[in-house]
Amino acid sequence: MRKLVLFSLLIALSICVNAQKVENLALTPPMGWNSWNTFGTDINEQLVMQTADAFVELGLKDAGYKYIVLDDGWMAKERDENNNLVPDPKKFPGGIKSLVDYVHSKGLKFGLYECAGNQTCAGYPGSRGFEYQDAKLFAEWGIDFLKYDWCNSENLNAKGAYETMRDALYACKQPIVFSICEWGDNEPWKWAKDVGHMWRVTGDIINCWDCEVSHGNWSSRGIWPIINLHKDLRKYAGPGHWNDLDMMEVGNGMTDSEDRVHFAMWSLLTSPLILGNDLRTMSKETLKTLVNKNVIAVNQDVLGVQAYCHLKSPELEIWVKPLDNEEWAVAFVNRSNEELQLSFDWWKHPINDQLTHKELEKKYKSYSIYDLYASKNIGLTNTNLVSKIKEHDVLLLKLSPQK
Ligand code: GLA
Repeated sequence: MRKLVLFSLLIALSICVNAQKVENLALTPPMGWNSWNTFGTDINEQLVMQTADAFVELGLKDAGYKYIVLDDGWMAKERDENNNLVPDPKKFPGGIKSLVDYVHSKGLKFGLYECAGNQTCAGYPGSRGFEYQDAKLFAEWGIDFLKYDWCNSENLNAKGAYETMRDALYACKQPIVFSICEWGDNEPWKWAKDVGHMWRVTGDIINCWDCEVSHGNWSSRGIWPIINLHKDLRKYAGPGHWNDLDMMEVGNGMTDSEDRVHFAMWSLLTSPLILGNDLRTMSKETLKTLVNKNVIAVNQDVLGVQAYCHLKSPELEIWVKPLDNEEWAVAFVNRSNEELQLSFDWWKHPINDQLTHKELEKKYKSYSIYDLYASKNIGLTNTNLVSKIKEHDVLLLKLSPQK
């Protein structure tokens, strides 16, 4: 009997040892592109290759974007006679492996979409019951990222289902970023730190500033409803495990200033920066926003602390994010429909982060202020910050202590 207990314990231990995610893959929020927001299931191999080319030619790769992720719609409607997933032969005549090789040849990484349920959200074969077989195939193809959705998952336990796929990926011994997409329904921030590298916190995004569209049992949300819905989740994010605010809508129809706010907020909130627009046709202004290295550096800061709302009125929101080296990122967002005249006293409402216990310190003579979008110094914190901010625009700053 004792032997039996010891044996069971050893088995349990060995399972526990195997049951982990690959660490150190997403110490800063993953950056890349995903096909869904713009293309839906209308995807094909030319799109992927042209997107990979655009990453390199437009400087997106240099700016830090790495993953090219094919979302729903890449598969044929049926598995083959061995129950393997099959790429849609019309959309991907060369198969997935050669596409992965092409993307890798550009120094980039490749991601795919699957679903924990019986079928994906668009009705293609899901991984339920085939997790290890599918993970093995993905690893053979050389993928680097898996987005794993939650449609048609009736009677599945979310934590268990995502753990199963995590373990299946881990068993392949390949570094694959695991992106959990169950829309925040089962509060993944409470259990997914050791399961995936990022987890969606809401249903799907749409390209609007402040709107919500109901689809019955779920809603699509614009930028501000997403930010506000789960603004208390910052304590759950950190290196290797991020709150995912969804693929971005920058370049998909909002104004350039709204796009700047969207990009600034996703950066401050340490969301993965996953582009969702057509890179081949975007405007110069959109590209300028997306490759702004100052803003990206805020998102990629090694401390990995998510921003919080410091002060809020109907017109103005001030968000702050502690950075490495005792620096801070501070965003003044004009949410109103008119230009805002700002005069801000840095010491009247001292910046003091309850989570990290960091504060803007009086011990320094002052902080120098750098405007991250305009790329210029604009003064010190020992006088009031005076500025005009256009409607739906942001003044995004970095403060550095004058030591
Ligand atoms: C869900 C996800 C989206 C996208 C679609 C694909 O709605 O939340 O991001 O992957 O499925 O069908």
